[in-house]
Amino acid sequence: MSILASRLGRIKPSPTIAVTTKAAELKAAGRDVIGLGAGEPDFDTPDNVKEAAIAAIHAGQTKYTAVDGTPALKQAICDKFRRENKLDYAPSQITVGTGGKQVLYNALMATLDEGDEVLIPAPYWVSYPDMVLLSGGEPVAIACSEKNGFKLQPKDLEEAITAKTKWLILNSPSNPTGAAYTWDEMKALTDVLKKHPHVWVMTDDMYEHLVYDNFVFCTPAQVEPELYDRTLTVNGVSKAYAMTGWRIGYAGGPAELIKAMAKIQSQSTSNPSSISQAAAVEALNGPQDFIPENAKLFKGRRDMVVEMLNDCPGLKCLKPEGAFYVYPSCAGVIGKKTPEGKTIASDGDFVTYLLESVGVAAVQGEAFGLSPYFRISYATSTEALKEACARIKKACEALI
Ligand SMILES: Cc1ncc(COP(=O)(O)O)c(C=O)c1O
Repeated sequence: MSILASRLGRIKPSPTIAVTTKAAELKAAGRDVIGLGAGEPDFDTPDNVKEAAIAAIHAGQTKYTAVDGTPALKQAICDKFRRENKLDYAPSQITVGTGGKQVLYNALMATLDEGDEVLIPAPYWVSYPDMVLLSGGEPVAIACSEKNGFKLQPKDLEEAITAKTKWLILNSPSNPTGAAYTWDEMKALTDVLKKHPHVWVMTDDMYEHLVYDNFVFCTPAQVEPELYDRTLTVNGVSKAYAMTGWRIGYAGGPAELIKAMAKIQSQSTSNPSSISQAAAVEALNGPQDFIPENAKLFKGRRDMVVEMLNDCPGLKCLKPEGAFYVYPSCAGVIGKKTPEGKTIASDGDFVTYLLESVGVAAVQGEAFGLSPYFRISYATSTEALKEACARIKKACEALI
């Protein structure tokens, strides 16, 4: 009998973490590798946030806190939702976890019974299907094609809903494509959901602040107030405030669901770090002016990367609305041969070729549920990005 539980056989380790680890190993071994796999901003947490954490340590805020968040942080989150999303949540409707990842996981664990279906537009963030599987549910991917900007179409949503559908997971701006829904596009989706009262919406708004060209972010419960009672609005400080290592994510939703999620957290990790919570209060309540500054920097990088990738033979790259990813098609290199005579048969082969031939680490589209594509994170220095794109071009030109 194996020591490992059978449920483990249903999931795989995170492929994006695998790429980042492999790039780091190659670098440590002396190889010249540019990692474009990481999903985190390349700049530092703002000083006012760091100072708040240090002050919390000195003030003795080093003990257990309430399981799903301190009153001060819950209040800061209520204020954020009201200020930025026009959403009214009471503190009893707020939960705080160790990253958005734990919040999403708690929600699925708290709600899924064996066989319950969760709709996941593909390409998707790698963790959604595996979290659903670990919770006993069935992930149902809905393919979102490049010709629709990788966005879920109302007709496809309508067709995917069954009596067993419990959740639709929406992620705008998206990891891995950067696609974000306009108000009208979101309204078209919420109109479909209005007709199916048994379907709830889990919206992952982690990249809310990273939108470009005057794009206006919106979230389902704001667009369609009728869905407020069956929407979990998930967000966090990781991406907007460059706080990935601090591990604070949060959500607003119906009190009954929030209480159920706290029950799970109370029997697993208890509260997120008390010090990180104090830092998150400052992030949400303090000055916000660096957010548009960072967004401007990201926009410049996006424009450069899209232009340089479209100059690579065999690649085609859409210009996305937000986040810090692009998702170029590599259909034009499939079937070609490397100088060593290996055939590129898949996006997995292509990213392996990029890593081995020119030392650029990207993630294969297969990991995100839509091939043949690959994901590039442009959350890295402009110089490194320029060099990486030049190397990708060289690698594409060398294919026969
Ligand atoms: C779409 C999406 N949701 C959630 C997360 C998790 O973020 P956190 O660091 O808050 O756990 C990530 C992180 O990569 C993400 O890309």
